[in-house]
Amino acid sequence: MTATTVDIPLLSICAQNQELLPEIKAAVNRVLESGAFILGPECKSFEAEFAEMMGATYAVGVDSGTSALELALEAVGVGPGDEVIIPTYTFIATATAVSVLGAKPVFADVDEVTLTLDPRSVERLVTEKTKAVVPVHLFGHPADMDPLLTLAKPGKIHLVEDCAQSHLASYKGRSAGSLGAFGAYSFYPTKNLGAAGDAGALVMNDAARRDRVIELRNCGRAVGATYHHMRVGHNCRLDEVQAAVLRVKLLHLRSWTQARRRLAGLYHERLKDLPLRLPPLGSDGTQPVFHLFTVRCERRDALAAHLKRRGVGSGVYYPLPVHLQPAYAAWGGREGQLPVSERASGEVLSLPMFPELSDADHARVCEAVRGFFR
Ligand SMILES: Cc1ncc(COP(=O)(O)O)c(C=O)c1O
Repeated sequence: MTATTVDIPLLSICAQNQELLPEIKAAVNRVLESGAFILGPECKSFEAEFAEMMGATYAVGVDSGTSALELALEAVGVGPGDEVIIPTYTFIATATAVSVLGAKPVFADVDEVTLTLDPRSVERLVTEKTKAVVPVHLFGHPADMDPLLTLAKPGKIHLVEDCAQSHLASYKGRSAGSLGAFGAYSFYPTKNLGAAGDAGALVMNDAARRDRVIELRNCGRAVGATYHHMRVGHNCRLDEVQAAVLRVKLLHLRSWTQARRRLAGLYHERLKDLPLRLPPLGSDGTQPVFHLFTVRCERRDALAAHLKRRGVGSGVYYPLPVHLQPAYAAWGGREGQLPVSERASGEVLSLPMFPELSDADHARVCEAVRGFFR
């Protein structure tokens, strides 16, 4: 069989939205009729509901995951002359959030198994100028936080967790995202919790930090004030339509997460004997949420082409680590500098993963993968 377009996609936003369409439309209509469009009651309710589900004391809604990272870094004091250690194997927004503040992103390598920030690589890169570290819970797998929390304990280095792909992930029984100074979430439509446009949020346990990002997201306006501005801020406000849609979807996040974990378990059962490296399923209270199910294969491009011919979608996240991206050429990144990330970039392939993926389609995906190795 040869297919020109895939009939089992890598992910499907429509499947999910279709199921909830009446509720989503009712929520949007509620906002349209209310006349409150920015930072209104939907935002307030969403912040309370999201904080509770993420196991944090507070949440502050913003207009994207990128803004969430930028505001968090700015709120812990990152600015020109500072260094921020980030994994090179991530979506580029982790790095640009550092750069737009005039600070220097310092690229670290990732762990061979989890593909998340390797604390040993971080330790080698710490200097007097290190102001923050950004562990990314990539593909929904929590980064190894304990060594990083120890590093940050004296108080000079702040941890900002990039949770764009890790809603509801847990690390050793604790909520990933609630461990550092801030957890920064994205609700880009394809995320585990996706809005109907751009949106994001920060979670935190400290009221002073909450107030700082509330000011920063709204032109530096003092909390509770109208035209009194305490600092130079930004416009990163969350709009009410997005907040209302997110509230509808948040009610389903737990069951969607269970469905993702079940599909990940099935992938392990059905692919375990093949010469592929599969992402870990988690253990000891460390539970990934499988934003993506990313395998590693030495003949990655051939496998992707084979799957496409059989109507199965796949994706490469990410083909080039950030230290080798043209945008960061000025920082002098060179090949061989961060070998685990560089090798992974040449081998990773994400297979279909979304809560509505049927068992029959999952079996078809696995059969197509098995066919490649026959
Ligand atoms: C790891 C990571 N960090 C940050 C972001 C930025 O989020 P957003 O697209 O909502 O700005 C994303 C989303 O694509 C991401 O995957």
